[in-house]
Amino acid sequence: MKIFLDSANLDDVRMLVALGLCDGVTTNPTLVAKQKNSEGLDFRGTIREIARLVGGPVSAEVVAVDVPGMLAEARVLAAIDHHVVVKLPLTREGLQVCRELRNEGIATNVTLCFQAGQALLAAKAGATYISPFVGRLDDLGCNGMQLVRDIRQIYDRYGFTTKILAASIRHPQHVVDAAMSGADVVTAPLAPILALFNHPLTDKGLATFLADWKASGLNHITG
Ligand code: G3P
Repeated sequence: MKIFLDSANLDDVRMLVALGLCDGVTTNPTLVAKQKNSEGLDFRGTIREIARLVGGPVSAEVVAVDVPGMLAEARVLAAIDHHVVVKLPLTREGLQVCRELRNEGIATNVTLCFQAGQALLAAKAGATYISPFVGRLDDLGCNGMQLVRDIRQIYDRYGFTTKILAASIRHPQHVVDAAMSGADVVTAPLAPILALFNHPLTDKGLATFLADWKASGLNHITG
């Protein structure tokens, strides 16, 4: 399973890249607005810099909602860098644009998916990625991860190649559950990804090993 960073923050991207864990990045208008003028870069500059740092897929979202508007924005976004994946809303117009972009060879991420029927339509429109929003469904008392499992079953049964990108991830257990549910990719903010490193028994075990070594009087390994 690939791990994408759900952020437009360049420092977050640099940190995850340095850890060797950043297979790609997803952004949305809310995340980009938070980083406005980050490091003096405009929107296109930020996306270009993220693509340079990551060297992998970077989702950038259209903000038009009509077909001609979305198509025009999509072509501009795709021209920023060959790693750009155009993010489109799961609407009738969004899927119409998705089909057209597929014909043009432009990768797409269909976003704001909250039910399996929507994911079926996105696959039929030739989406590269479908983004089920797990956390926002959980917020409503629904089982967000069940949506990932349902989409997996449908895509596998009919051989759809659209990749399932589990989104709206809130905590490390979501990442693990997405992996166990057959997501191709999970996109998460930095904190849940970094939290995957942590376990108190790891810290306790390491402290004990180091204390025992020190007490033994043995020389340093490289000494
Ligand atoms: O980028 C889309 C998605 O991951 C948003 O997450 O936390 O705003 O529901 P959230």
